[in-house]
Amino acid sequence: MEILGIDIGGSGVKAAVVDTKKGKLVSQKVRFPTPDPSSPKKIFSGIQSNFIEEFKWSGKVGCGFPGVVKKNKVFSAANISKKWVGVNIKKKFFQNFNLECKAVNDADAAGIAEIYLNKNVPKKGTVMVITVGTGLGTSIFVDGKLVPNIEFGHLKMYGDCAEKYASNLVRKKLELSWKEWSARFTEYLEYIELLVSPNTIIFGGGISKYFDEFKNDLKSNCEIIPAQNRNNSGIIGAAISAV
Ligand code: BGC
Repeated sequence: MEILGIDIGGSGVKAAVVDTKKGKLVSQKVRFPTPDPSSPKKIFSGIQSNFIEEFKWSGKVGCGFPGVVKKNKVFSAANISKKWVGVNIKKKFFQNFNLECKAVNDADAAGIAEIYLNKNVPKKGTVMVITVGTGLGTSIFVDGKLVPNIEFGHLKMYGDCAEKYASNLVRKKLELSWKEWSARFTEYLEYIELLVSPNTIIFGGGISKYFDEFKNDLKSNCEIIPAQNRNNSGIIGAAISAV
């Protein structure tokens, strides 16, 4: 089945048509920068001109969102306009574009893609997905089953939340070298391991395309593997969850 996968992020909004059976993009990936303010109105307008009209889309949509999403409704918005809180994304897609949509948390979406498609992910035990971008997205799968809306990017570290210490945005803002950033991320991993003891950690998000640059500097007792689809996992998983 072909579904339009959308990944709303703190710095960019990305989409592509996904073959959900093969778990592959079957169109080019289109991106527009997250507007400022990143209100629902502005983002929906960007989605309309850049994706719906561009792809002449009339089929199903799967949408990943950077906050807690329950039954398609947004409950938190850390790196995006607070106006999203309370918005039912499914209803908005129907009202605005007459399209059927399923919305999920962005890290849950990335995890869904990896669990279904990545042969290196064990089917049993606890698997954790961490997406590193503007924020830190986390998802947990136990024996292949998702525990939705895990928000471990907001664990407290040094008086603020972890994503203010070890995200890709922080790396860029502070101009940290890979070594410096890896040291921070390793501290975060230690914290995660203490709380969750995952067997495997899948590393995704915008920074995952550089995984080879820093993989040897990440110290962990668990196996860390890069997301097979790198940053496209969010788009692919959003589409899969809308099947
Ligand atoms: C949000 C999460 C999201 C992550 C990555 C965090 O700030 O609270 O829900 O998964 O950013 O976008």
